[in-house]
Amino acid sequence: MSTIALRLQTPLPETYTAALPADLEERIQEAKQSLGSNLVILGHHYQRDDVIQWADARGDSFKLARFAADHPTAKYIVFCGVHFMAESADILTGDNQHVMLPDLNAGCSMADMANEDQVLDAWDDLSAICGTEHIVPITYMNSSAALKAFVGEHGGAVCTSSNAEAILRWAFHTRKAEKVLFFPDQHLGRNTAVNLGFSTKDCVVWNPRAENGGLEEREIKEATFLLWRGHCSIHQRFRVAQIEEARQKNPDVHIIVHPECAHEVVCAADQAGSTEAIIKAIATAPAGTSWGVGTEIHLVHRLAQEHPDKQVFSLDPVSCPCSTMARIDPSHLAWTLEHLQAGQIVNEIRVDPDTTRWARTALERMLAIT
Ligand code: 13P
Ligand code: SF4
Repeated sequence: MSTIALRLQTPLPETYTAALPADLEERIQEAKQSLGSNLVILGHHYQRDDVIQWADARGDSFKLARFAADHPTAKYIVFCGVHFMAESADILTGDNQHVMLPDLNAGCSMADMANEDQVLDAWDDLSAICGTEHIVPITYMNSSAALKAFVGEHGGAVCTSSNAEAILRWAFHTRKAEKVLFFPDQHLGRNTAVNLGFSTKDCVVWNPRAENGGLEEREIKEATFLLWRGHCSIHQRFRVAQIEEARQKNPDVHIIVHPECAHEVVCAADQAGSTEAIIKAIATAPAGTSWGVGTEIHLVHRLAQEHPDKQVFSLDPVSCPCSTMARIDPSHLAWTLEHLQAGQIVNEIRVDPDTTRWARTALERMLAIT
């Protein structure tokens, strides 16, 4: 089982890199218009403002996957997001549809923390220690197509930050799991386990670089959740001390964080949810309320701009953007669209048929459950 490797992005010609923002804007607009209904641009909420303004649909990773699955006639899908999102869109669309990622270097460092060989090794270790008949593997959407295929083939499913609870409930009730192997984000796994009534003591962390995950056989046998040692470097920056400071400044502040944050941060917050859930909570809150947010900075800035009647700020005073999401810029978008206009498909993301078969099973299970 294999998937396409992430190729390095071809450097763009100067007509794109040296173009002024207003020029790029005009060219994107023109290309978009001329491609008409053949083209759909999808944008993840962490995209820059000068890119997301062109999106026909914006969403969290679940909503964008659902959108791709529900639009079988869109010929060209330009995905302004990261590689695993574009792969998922390709898996869920037909062979006659073409998914493009404007910059091939837009990956996700968390997704890179689990690879297929490591997961196969972990499965072999688990098989030798406790058998795998009652272990259900669940992969976060932020993973390669090869890992989605692995879970599809082994009776598991994909989850996103907006449906992880429902997917884990399915694993225990429908699939009668006794244990779950959850990768690659330990934090989403732990936060969801606790939301379902389990304790952090039911979770152990599987280190893919150590023999038997760095665990004693007894620990593996006793645990309900085997959580992969992976994390998002952006969300790991949020701290309980930042929440305390925000509350000291304003005891009425509402704290909302993404479930990729550490468990103690999620416990200290008032709410946790996917990017879509964060947007909804702030959009529907009364005017005059104050929101300390623990997620990527482009989204926090946009929320602050869109809701001038509310105070919206990042919990991390020096928060950095997701650098891979930010690789998609107007130059790369213009380059992709102008090639399409000229009849050339660039940066197509195509997952091979074997991987697609099982990865689609895992994604479709998710879509059917939620
Ligand atoms: P959402 O599914 O909440 O949009 O999250 C995707 C992601 O990569 C968050 O870091
Ligand atoms: Fe990956 Fe974190 Fe960026 Fe999300 S914010 S795409 S998890 S690196």
